[in-house]
Amino acid sequence: MTSESARSRQCRVAIAGFGTVGQSVAKILTSGVHAELTLTHVFNRNVASKRVDWTGPDVVWTESFDDLLAAEVDVVVELIGGTSPARDWIDRALLAGIPVVTANKQVIAQAGTELMSQARRHGTQLLFEAAVAGGIPIVRGMRDGVSGDRLTRVSGILNGTCNYILTSMEADGVSFEDALAEAQRLGYAEADPTADVEGFDAQAKLAILLAVGLRQVVTADDIPLASMTSVAAIDFAYARRLGCVIRQVAQAEVLDDGSVRASVRPSLVPEASPLARVDGSQNIVVVEGRYGGETAFSGYGAGGDPTAVAVVSDLVAVARGQAVAPTDLFPDKQRAARVVQGFEAGHYLRFTIADRPGIIAALAEVFSRHGVNVDAVLQEPGWSKTELPFVMTLETCGSMAVSAALGEIERFDFHVQAPVWLPILSDGEDGV
Ligand SMILES: NC(=O)c1ccc[n+]([C@@H]2O[C@H](COP(=O)([O-])OP(=O)(O)OC[C@H]3O[C@@H](n4cnc5c(N)ncnc54)[C@H](OP(=O)(O)O)[C@@H]3O)[C@@H](O)[C@H]2O)c1
Repeated sequence: MTSESARSRQCRVAIAGFGTVGQSVAKILTSGVHAELTLTHVFNRNVASKRVDWTGPDVVWTESFDDLLAAEVDVVVELIGGTSPARDWIDRALLAGIPVVTANKQVIAQAGTELMSQARRHGTQLLFEAAVAGGIPIVRGMRDGVSGDRLTRVSGILNGTCNYILTSMEADGVSFEDALAEAQRLGYAEADPTADVEGFDAQAKLAILLAVGLRQVVTADDIPLASMTSVAAIDFAYARRLGCVIRQVAQAEVLDDGSVRASVRPSLVPEASPLARVDGSQNIVVVEGRYGGETAFSGYGAGGDPTAVAVVSDLVAVARGQAVAPTDLFPDKQRAARVVQGFEAGHYLRFTIADRPGIIAALAEVFSRHGVNVDAVLQEPGWSKTELPFVMTLETCGSMAVSAALGEIERFDFHVQAPVWLPILSDGEDGV
């Protein structure tokens, strides 16, 4: 190959957003590992404060997104984050026929269908491997690796911050607040952890997995969430007695009528499940196909370098001309599928009460009226009678019946804290 033809195959890359991931992408691009990729532009607000010399003297640093479009770069990498103005900038690059690689889960979850149509109309592409599960090649894995199957379910641990907090609580017996503070000190959790612990982050990622893997477009906000802030150290002791651990589980399946059952919830997961074996800030995605059964993908779901690997893998695909039809990534469906709210599972309920005779009987009477069977009652010794935690597990039943029963139970005056309700995933069923 002549040096001229080598030069002609160079792919000129512009990074928009020189933060954690943007800097890691630049580091890989300037390391010389990928000869076909050249970093030519970096766009960021207040760019003077971002400028570094290790990217080399030829990189153009700019505060104007228009400069990237005017320079006719070969690909724009969007690493700004958030929906606005990032979505608009992605849209404008696609409109100019420039391929875009992004790690932005919010934009893809909210506007994936529209942006994919835009890419198709302008003969270009939008790749987003890094938007779900960071460095784990789950988009490629679902699109290529198991494309021979008909995927029916997906489940996973999609938020490394929550997994770090829950596995620290489990290992060290610390409170949620202490585990969160430690995660913040180590840089695993944001100063405002709401998006992680309330489930919004995993909700957006699950919506993308649904589109890519299960071929259903949903409105991400329709996916039911449960906060993990009520999980306490004692729940891990009870979970262990039940042969389980507690994880924030995202799960989805497509029902026969085309509707979708999906949720993000802290759940009891059997110790033998692949989801139980994911420690610290790692992620896992388990897909289930009609023919191939379960396939698990695991690894680092966040962090500058692992996420940058996913971004650069998309850039390599663009440079090599491995075009992906937008509809292969995101189904071209204008109407969002209906998301079903209820689910069937075993249930874990922790009550914290001021003790007196007749409480178990009163709870059992309400459950029985709602057609719900109590499976077991567990009580760890050594707690004060004035603030006594105990657990009831319920046999597999619909969540609507449990919800109705709890609505009545919450009105009893013996509660010291609101009951904590977690689904129990059954053995061999990591999905819904
Ligand atoms: N970090 C991870 O582990 C990870 C993992 C997977 C996916 N992601 C995704 O990757 C993307 C980037 O994340 P990150 O962690 O790298 O974020 P970050 O560290 O906050 O970097 C964002 C960069 O964009 C710049 N920026 C923000 N708004 C801007 C605007 N309006 N105009 C110009 N520049 C602007 C910021 O500048 P300032 O410094 O001035 O604010 C910063 O340099 C997000 O979509 C995120 O969800 C991140």
